[in-house]
Amino acid sequence: MKAPRAPESILTPRLLLRRPVAADAEAIFHRYASDPVVTRYLSWPTHRSVADTRAFLTWADDEWDRWPAGPYLVFAQRARQPDTLLGGTGLAFKSLTRAVTGYVFARDAWEQGFATEALAAIVELARNIRVQRLEAVCHVDHKASSHVLEKCGFTRESAHREHFTFPNLAPQKPSEVFSYVLAL
Ligand SMILES: CC(C)(COP(=O)(O)OP(=O)(O)OC[C@H]1O[C@@H](n2cnc3c(N)ncnc32)[C@H](O)[C@@H]1OP(=O)(O)O)[C@@H](O)C(=O)NCCC(=O)NCCS
Repeated sequence: MKAPRAPESILTPRLLLRRPVAADAEAIFHRYASDPVVTRYLSWPTHRSVADTRAFLTWADDEWDRWPAGPYLVFAQRARQPDTLLGGTGLAFKSLTRAVTGYVFARDAWEQGFATEALAAIVELARNIRVQRLEAVCHVDHKASSHVLEKCGFTRESAHREHFTFPNLAPQKPSEVFSYVLAL
C-alpha cells in the first residue's frame, strides 16, 4: 500500500512548520546554519557560505520528491515579525516505515519549549504517514537534546554506547552517542 504524503505545512499551538523553498536560503544561513555554537552537535558541517545552504535546499527538495516527507522549517506563529525563522526539523527516511529525525533552533529561540513542540508534531506526523520506527542520535553530553527526546517518548535503544563522527567537534575522533528510538 502506498504511504500517504505529508502535508507541506503543519500548525502547532505556537509554531508553523513548512517545507523549505529556495528563497529561505539567506534566513537559514544567518539564523542558525552558520552559527558554530548551534551546529556544534549536528551531523552536518557549519555552513560557510549561502552556497552550502542552497545545497541543503536542493537535497531537501530531492527528499520531498523521493519520500512522503522531508525537512521542515519552523516559524513562530505569534512573533512580532511573523516570518522570523526559528529553526528546522523533519524526517529523513531509511525506508517507508523507518525514519530519522532531528531539530535545530537559532540561539535566541532556545529554552522556550519550541524543540519539544516541534518534535511532538513530527512524531504525530510520522504516525499519520505510517512510519513504524522513528530514530534519533544524540551526543552523550547533549543533555538538553536527550531531554527533548525523552519528553517526546523516545527511549535509549541499547545500554552500550555507539560512536559517531561529528564534523564540527573532532572530525578525526568519533564521539559517543545515544541512539534513541520510538516505536509508533
Ligand atoms: C537542543 C535544542 C534543540 C533544544 O531546543 P529547545 O527549544 O531549547 O528545547 P526545549 O525548550 O523544548 O526543551 C529543552 C529541555 O532541556 C532542558 N535542558 C536545557 N539544558 C539542559 C541541560 N544542560 N541539562 C539538562 N536539561 C537541560 C530544559 O530545561 C528543557 O526541559 P524542560 O522543558 O523540562 O524544562 C536547542 O538547544 C538547539 O537547537 N541546539 C542546537 C542544535 C542541536 O544541538 N540540535 C540537536 C542535535 S541532537
